[in-house]
Amino acid sequence: MRWRAIARSLLIQLLASVLAWTLAAPLAMPWRWALLQALMAGLLARIAGVRGYVLGLHVLFMPLVLLALQLQLPGWVYLLALLLTFALSRNALTEQVPLYLSSQESIAALAGFLSPGARVLDLGSGDGRVVLQLAALRPDVSVCGIENALLPWLWSRWRYWRAGCPVNARLQFGSFWQLDWQRFDVVHAFLSPVPMSRVWQRFRQDCHPEAILISNTFMIQGMVPQQRLPLSGPLQTELLIWRHPHGTC
Ligand SMILES: C[S@@+](CC[C@H](N)C(=O)[O-])C[C@H]1O[C@@H](n2cnc3c(N)ncnc32)[C@H](O)[C@@H]1O
Repeated sequence: MRWRAIARSLLIQLLASVLAWTLAAPLAMPWRWALLQALMAGLLARIAGVRGYVLGLHVLFMPLVLLALQLQLPGWVYLLALLLTFALSRNALTEQVPLYLSSQESIAALAGFLSPGARVLDLGSGDGRVVLQLAALRPDVSVCGIENALLPWLWSRWRYWRAGCPVNARLQFGSFWQLDWQRFDVVHAFLSPVPMSRVWQRFRQDCHPEAILISNTFMIQGMVPQQRLPLSGPLQTELLIWRHPHGTC
């Protein structure tokens, strides 16, 4: 699926470049060519069913390449940009989970839902906001977050330190697939549709029968949630709650 999307993007850019070439020579009129290419890429992407910010990326791609070439940036700038992108958002590539952050509303709803003394795991803790805000709103619960993208994790550690190192909050570096989920009562996931089936398998396998899985917005295919807490955001629409299949509630 991922490779199909990459191949489609390459094809759109290539075809738009060739079509623009029939109207303007890239070496003689680089900006005219790049703007025509951007227009064609946008049209082709729309025809191919591309929507949202990816459509914008298709339009901006060639003008930005041309701009970078004209600025004659040294090679290390590109290497640095690549490393920073990886350190910020490696999971967009490896897990198909980009970095975006829980709304205040969803954290407040989560805080209101937790039972007293719950041990909570935040899968992919990003900048640590869920962990730190939950820990502050609910001093009776303990919250552990785990993140394997370096920059968000460093940022979360900084926020943890600024918050006075709360004793009921923990921010670990690493992949949540490598962690033992057994010791948690609540697993919170705000990821993407892609890993949800695997998250469910892992939850069933590792967690105790009274444990709860809470997903911000993303469904598990074929699984009806036991409870839904509505959210008013355009992207974060609800908290979906599944109890363990061997549980008593
Ligand atoms: C949509 S963000 C949510 C961040 C935070 N939980 C929140 O709700 O604000 C998902 C996060 O999961 C992280 N992530 C994805 N796969 C991961 C993995 N296997 N191990 C650790 N973190 C992961 C991403 O880097 C990203 O920061």
